[in-house]
This record gives sequence, structure tokens and C-alpha cells, in this order.
Amino acid sequence: VAVKVENIKPHVGARIHAKPEDLLDPAVVQQCLEALEDRAVLVFPQINLTNDQQLAFTDALGSRVNFTNSSATGDLDAKDVYTVTLDPKLNPDPEAVHGTYFWHMDGLISDIVQPKASLLSARVLSAKGGQTEFASTYAAYEALPEEDKAELEGLVAEHSLYGIYRHIVEAPSDDDMTRWTRRSSRKHLIVKTQPSGRKSLIIGMSADRVEGLSVYEGRALVARLNDWAAQPDFTYRHHWSVGDLVVWDNCGALHRVIPYAKDSGRKMHRTSVAGVAPNLQAAA
Ligand SMILES: [Fe+2]
Repeated sequence: VAVKVENIKPHVGARIHAKPEDLLDPAVVQQCLEALEDRAVLVFPQINLTNDQQLAFTDALGSRVNFTNSSATGDLDAKDVYTVTLDPKLNPDPEAVHGTYFWHMDGLISDIVQPKASLLSARVLSAKGGQTEFASTYAAYEALPEEDKAELEGLVAEHSLYGIYRHIVEAPSDDDMTRWTRRSSRKHLIVKTQPSGRKSLIIGMSADRVEGLSVYEGRALVARLNDWAAQPDFTYRHHWSVGDLVVWDNCGALHRVIPYAKDSGRKMHRTSVAGVAPNLQAAA
């Protein structure tokens, strides 16, 4: 059985109406993989997957990877499922979640290949805020003027914890700075070429420097690219219902959440699909 894939906006997003058992069919998985790169964001309205079903779909799309080794493990009934929440009882270290208020890609500063995709399912919603926005960096790249594409080719950005936390903490302590620099930065080509040959931008708020440019030139370039990708034509805002599953191409989409309160109860379950090829071909 093939499932129906319905475009959400001309340049980004698709809605897939499927039942949990459909996702066990290899033909449907293949259809989802193709739609994922084509549309960058896939919405499965109220599919209501259990943790085990979400993990099985994660494995079917590639293989699961768990790169978040701290915080938010409170009520897990499945390993490799990360609970995204600001509830202080479940997440004693909310700073990482505050970072999700800004455009980013998952896993760019972890010791792993950038995850291929992320899957997020809604368990408890916030009364206010909590919508997730996505920006297709395939569409953003493809719409760039040719001269900009040529200038970006081969450029390498450094992503770091400092890049993230400078947006969140007003006056970092010495301890903060030690913590943020303990993990060295990670380098990623700004223009990623997918195995299919299609290109996307690897950008977001974690990019703090660009190799070969001054600090201010690098930050200006990243800011300009982030702004470019955030144009309405390339973005989709998801208003969640409980049970929705959203899968995004983590090498071809930025995402961020509209701020919500820490006592809102909001709880999301995230799993990740391992990346296949490092994005550092030109950085050696
Ligand atoms: Fe994220």
C-alpha cells in the first residue's frame, strides 16, 4: 500500500496520512525517505505512535542514534527516546531547551556525524506557545543567486556551545565559559551535497565562526543565511495536536520552537536517525 503524500507549501512540507502499521511496510518507508528529502518536513497528523513504534520507524529510516547524553530522562520507558521538556522535575538543565528557541539543526556539536533526520512526537501540549517552525535549507540554497552559491562553496563554519549559549545567558560566569569550551567546536561545510547530489545549507545559531573570515564577517554571513532561510516561502509553522509526529531532514531543515512556559507541561519525545556521511570533505 502506498500512502498519500500531500504538499503543505510549494517549497516545504508534506502531510502523510498513515496508520502506525503502514510504517512497517518497506515500500512506505521508501516513500517517506524520498518525500523527506523532497519536502524537508513530513507531518503525520495524530498518528499516535508508542515509543516502541517511533523507535521502529526511526530504525526503518536509517538507524537510531542517541547523541543527547544529559538531562531530561525522567519518565522514559524507552532508551534512545529523548524527552524535550522544561519541567524542572524532568529536566534539571533547561538551558539546552532554551537553545531550541533559535534556528538550529540537531547534533551539530556532538561527537557524531550530523543526524540524518529527527522525529518528534507530541505527548503533552502547552496552552500557549510550543509551535515548531521549520525552514527548508534546500529551498533556501536553491533560491540563492548563482554568485552567492559560488562564494559559499567550500566554506566551513565552526559550530560551538558558545555559539548557542551566547544567545541564552546574559553574563556568563567563568564556570560557564569553561563548560562551553570543554567540548571543542565542530566544523561543517556550509553547503552540504547530499548523496542524491542535491545541496542544502548547514547553518543555524550554533555557527559562530567561518574559517578564513574575521569573527564579524563570519557572524554576518551566518546571520544573513539564517535570515534568508527564514523567509516565509521556505518555512512552515507546525501547530501541534497530541499524537502528531513530525519528521524532518536534519541536514536540510532548520527548526525552532515558539517559547513556552516551564510549567506548561509541554512534553515531546524525540528520536534521531544516524547520519551517513560526515560533512567535512573540504575541511581537512
Ligand atoms: Fe532541535
